[in-house]
Amino acid sequence: MAGSGERSCQQPLEECLEAAVQVALGAGQIIREALRNEKRVQTKSSAADLVTETDQIVENLIISTLKKKFPSHRFIGEESVAAGEKCSLTDDPTWIIDPIDGTCNFVHGVPVVAVSIGFSVKKELELGVIYSCVEEKLYTGRKGHGAFCNGQKLQASNQTDITKALILTELGSIREPVAVKKLFNNMERLLRVHAHGIRIIGSAALDLCHVATGDVEAFYQFGLHCWDMAAAAVIVREAGGIMMDTAGGPLDLMSRRVVAAGTSEMAHQIVQELQPVAYERDDGTGGANDSLSK
Ligand code: IPD
Repeated sequence: MAGSGERSCQQPLEECLEAAVQVALGAGQIIREALRNEKRVQTKSSAADLVTETDQIVENLIISTLKKKFPSHRFIGEESVAAGEKCSLTDDPTWIIDPIDGTCNFVHGVPVVAVSIGFSVKKELELGVIYSCVEEKLYTGRKGHGAFCNGQKLQASNQTDITKALILTELGSIREPVAVKKLFNNMERLLRVHAHGIRIIGSAALDLCHVATGDVEAFYQFGLHCWDMAAAAVIVREAGGIMMDTAGGPLDLMSRRVVAAGTSEMAHQIVQELQPVAYERDDGTGGANDSLSK
């Protein structure tokens, strides 16, 4: 029997996946309807780190719905963490939620926005659901069972040559000049090795879905959060892709950095070009990132 400090996942993962899909579809409807309306926008860690009442409404809906079904599970939600809750991953079954990934797009009415719901047990990511709610694309992944978009099986790109790669990245919300310069330097380095191109779409979760579909060869970012990549990590891996740290080691969900690619050769070529940009870890444990930016 699990003690009070350790909760087991008694529900079958299938049931968890179905619950996440249903709540993501409901959340997506709210976001779609709110996209064209006027929004009340507030800032969080920087002037470019935005939150609206819809982010909060949707996060409350997702957490309260899942809590009712799975009362012993834990939750890490972007807006709950912004409101002061702890962001630490334990062995307990834990839902990792971004109610609107692409909030800046949402604020401006750009329809590139998604709901992202990941689920981990014993710190292993087991499930991912990402709903690109305007184009109505539902991405799902379950460890060992494949990744799908609207029921179609996903396969990441098999390209190994960076000179044939289209690469996605994001700039995040940091505007500190030293960090911004490093972000641009990294893009310059990738262009200098003749990647086909670099694109920024404004949603890290959807960037990662594009890696899973094979539309692009790779994605990297410094400064994203665990809720931007938890669900996507399952989807990318189940599509045959690679998720790794920007220094080439295994992905650390709390590290605020990632390289994703269809092949490990591609991921390593990107790693080789990247200069680190330091951010505070999501779990506040310090460590590898020498704590520069929020
Ligand atoms: C952000 C988006 C953005 C990325 C940021 C993320 P949010 O998530 O994915 O594209 O650059 O790092 O935090 O705030 O829209 O949920």
